[in-house]
Amino acid sequence: MTDERDEVRARIDIAELVGREVALKRAGKVYKGLCPFHQDRNPSFTVSAETGRYKCWSCGETGDIFTWVMKRQNVEFGEALRILAKQAGVTLANRSSTPPSVKQAQEAAMDEALRFFRDQLTRSSTAKEYCDGRGLDQSALDGWEIGYAPDVGEALAVHLKKKGFSLGECKNLFLVDQDAGGGYFDKFRGRLIFPIRDERGELVAFGGRVLGQGHPKYINSSDTPLYRKSRVLYGMNRARERLSAQHQAVLVEGYLDVIACHRAGVTNALASLGTSLSEDHAKLLKRWCSEVVILYDSDDAGQKAAERAVKILSAENLRVSVALMPPGDDPDTLLRRVGPAAVQKAVAGGLSPMEYGVQALLQRLSPNQPEFWGEAVTLLAEAPTEMELDRQIVRLAPMYPGLKDSVQAQNALRREVAKMRPNVRTNGNRDRSSRPRSDASPAAPQLAGAEIVVFHAFLEPQFRPRAWMFARTRDLFVTDAGTRLSEAIATAFPQAAPQGPTSEWLHRIEPEELRQLLSDLTLDLRASRLSDEYVTDAVQKLREMAGDRRLREVREQATGSDEEYQYFLKLKERKPDALAKPKEEDGLF
Ligand code: UTP
Ligand code: MN
Repeated sequence: MTDERDEVRARIDIAELVGREVALKRAGKVYKGLCPFHQDRNPSFTVSAETGRYKCWSCGETGDIFTWVMKRQNVEFGEALRILAKQAGVTLANRSSTPPSVKQAQEAAMDEALRFFRDQLTRSSTAKEYCDGRGLDQSALDGWEIGYAPDVGEALAVHLKKKGFSLGECKNLFLVDQDAGGGYFDKFRGRLIFPIRDERGELVAFGGRVLGQGHPKYINSSDTPLYRKSRVLYGMNRARERLSAQHQAVLVEGYLDVIACHRAGVTNALASLGTSLSEDHAKLLKRWCSEVVILYDSDDAGQKAAERAVKILSAENLRVSVALMPPGDDPDTLLRRVGPAAVQKAVAGGLSPMEYGVQALLQRLSPNQPEFWGEAVTLLAEAPTEMELDRQIVRLAPMYPGLKDSVQAQNALRREVAKMRPNVRTNGNRDRSSRPRSDASPAAPQLAGAEIVVFHAFLEPQFRPRAWMFARTRDLFVTDAGTRLSEAIATAFPQAAPQGPTSEWLHRIEPEELRQLLSDLTLDLRASRLSDEYVTDAVQKLREMAGDRRLREVREQATGSDEEYQYFLKLKERKPDALAKPKEEDGLF
C-alpha cells in the first residue's frame, strides 16, 4: 500500500496539480500564489516541488498531493488515492478485486438499463398517468431520470441480452434474476423506476415503486458490486452544491419526499434507501455538512426512526434538529396539499432533539397519565446541558400532578430527574456529544468560566467577529490553557475572524490539543444560549482578573522602586479595567 502511495507521489507533480486551481509563479525554489484556503490578498501560499508539499504562511494550511485532493474535492483518503492513481497511471493492485474491464461492463449495463426504463416511460400511458397524479411533471421526470419497468416478465432481460450484456453479470447488478429452470427474468416489473446515483453522480442502483397499491410498495437494489446501500443517500448527487454552500442537509424518508423537497426549493434533501440510516451514512454526511435536519413522518415509525437517526448523527458530532411534520403528512403530501412554503417552514422549524422528545411525548400521552411522568423523567435525564434541562423542567412543571405551586413542582421534578441522571450517565453507550453533565464544563476543566464564554462566543457565527477581537487578545486570559488558545487563535486568524462553519476553519487552530479543546466546547455548549450582555460581562470579569494579575506581577517584580507599582495602583483605582483593555474593541459590546 505504501508502495503505491509513493509511486503516485513520484509521478504527480504537485505544482502542476495545484496549478490547475491556483495561479502559481516561480519564486526561487518554490511556487507562490494566492492561498485558496482563506481570503488571501498577498500571495502567502507556497508549493514546493522539492518537498512535494504546499503551505500557506498566513493561514497555516499545509499538506501534500493527497490532502490537497481530499480538501479540494471533499473526499476521503482512499478516494483521493484512487483519483490520483488514475491520473498517474498507477494500478492499485490491492484495492479493488474488480478489474477495470469488468467494472466498465457493469456500468455500461446499468446505463443501458436506465436508457431502457426511460424509454419505456414514454411508451406507457398508465405510468405517465400515475406520474401526473403524483404531480411529477416533465422537468421532475427528466431531472430525476425517472423511468418505468413494464409489467412483462423479461423485457429488460431480453433487451440487455440483445445489447450483448452477460445476464449472469446483470444478475449480480440486481437487474435480472433466474428462475428454477435457469431462465432470466426482470427484477423490476410494472414499477416506476428511480435511478440511484452516488455522490459522484455514478449510477449505482435502482428503486422501483409499484403503480398504485401493491406489495411490496418498493423494490430496491440490494448491495451489488457497484452499490452499498449503507453508503449511498438518494439525492446526494443533486444536493451536493447546496450542501457545500450551506453545510446543512435535510434528511427525509423516501424517494418521493426527496423529490418533493427539491421541488419545494429545499434542494439539500436526502434519504436513505430501503434501509435505516447507518453510521456510514452519517460519515458521508459529515464530509459535506455540519448540521442535519430530520424531517420524517410524524407517525410512530417515523418518530422511532427519527430518534434513532438523532443518535447516529450526534455520534458523528453533527448538529441535529428534528422537524415535526403535521400528523399524516410527509414532505410529498405537504407540498401538494399546502405548497412549497409549508415544506420550507417545516424545515426551518426544526427542534432540538430534547424539545422534540418532549413535544412528541405530549402528543402521545397526557400529563394526567402516570406513564407520562415516567417517560418524561427518563427523557429529561438525557438533557445534554443543565440549561436545556432547566428549560424543559420549567415547561413541564405546571402540568405536574398534585402540586399547584410551580416552584414545588419544579423541585419535585428536578429530584426525580436527579435520581435518574447518575444511572443514565453510567450506562455506557453514551458518547461525548450527548453526555449529561453538571454546570461546570468537564470538556474544558482547564478554562475559567469567563474564558469559556468568550471562546464559546467565538464559535457562534453571530458573535464571532466581535468575540474574535477578545479571543486573540492574549493578555485578557487568565489560565494557561486560555492564554495558549488565545495565542493559537491569533496565529490562525491574524487578520479577521474566520467565516463559515466551524468544521471549515477549526483545523487551522494548532496544535491538535488546543483544536480539541475548542471543539470540545462546541459539543458542550451547543445548547446553551449566548447574549451580547453575557459576553460583555465575561470580558469585564476577565479584565478585572487580568488587572489583578498584572498588579501581582508588578508587585513581585518591582522590588526596590515602588514607583511602577504605585502607578498601577493609581491606574486601577481610576479605571479598574484600563490595564488589560485592548484598544481596538472599545465600545464593541
Ligand atoms: P413510504 O412508505 O413513506 O413511501 O416509505 P413514500 O416514499 O412516501 O412513497 P409514497 O408517497 O407512498 O409513494 C418511505 C421510503 O421507505 C422505503 C422507500 O425508500 C420509500 O421511499 N420503502 C418503503 C421501501 O424500501 N420498501 C417499501 O416497501 C416501503
Ligand atoms: Mn409519500
